Amino acid sequence: GKQFQIAIDGPAAAGKSTVAKIAARELGFIYIDTGAMYRSLTYKALHAAADLKSGKALKDLLDSTEIVLRQMEDGQHVSVDGQDVTEEIRLPEVTEQVSLVSSYKEVREEMVRRQRRLAESCSVVMDGRDIGTHVLPNADVKIFMKASVEERAIRRFKEEELKGRHPSIEALQDAIARRDKKDMEREISPLVKADDAIELDTTSLNIEEVVAAILRIVNARR
Ligand code: C5P
Repeated sequence: GKQFQIAIDGPAAAGKSTVAKIAARELGFIYIDTGAMYRSLTYKALHAAADLKSGKALKDLLDSTEIVLRQMEDGQHVSVDGQDVTEEIRLPEVTEQVSLVSSYKEVREEMVRRQRRLAESCSVVMDGRDIGTHVLPNADVKIFMKASVEERAIRRFKEEELKGRHPSIEALQDAIARRDKKDMEREISPLVKADDAIELDTTSLNIEEVVAAILRIVNARR
């Protein structure tokens, strides 16, 4: 039968990937983390000392870059040209530059082409910033996940603590707010709720509650 598509968009650190991953597993769908694709290109560009001010240079680099997302027992693995970069793409220097790299039309067009191809052959849960508005405009379910910036900074802080790092909550909050501003203000497919997306405010919900809410929405449409 026809593939089923779930689009999950929202600002940084709203918990999209955490719940998208679990929902995908429950449904037997493939999870596609589009942020990881932009992060992978950013990581490679930083390493290659590419000109981050040139959309053309970044698009050329992307054309010779193979990005592979895989779900394994221990979580999602991301590789760039055969090298596992799962940890590296989450480093602060990548996070700091990814909104610039993702702002170029040429880069976005190629990423969207790859994302649509990934969604062609199976039912998917795809998360990002422009999935419901642009990548999968006909998705069966569109969810716009949000949470207060304070709550998002606290969640990110807890993740960092598990990795043995202790950033200040204020610094995390500033970095999140800066990234959201860039993502919302860019010219090409900015971060915005699709008209037909269901808004889900997760500020006072835990992971299980958000997953349950998403599965309820999906099951009502299947
Ligand atoms: O989801 P994540 O926070 O990993 O995304 C990293 C960055 O990639 C975002 O801040 C945004 O600049 C970019 N992005 C995007 N479009 C998407 C997914 C991510 O522009 N669909």
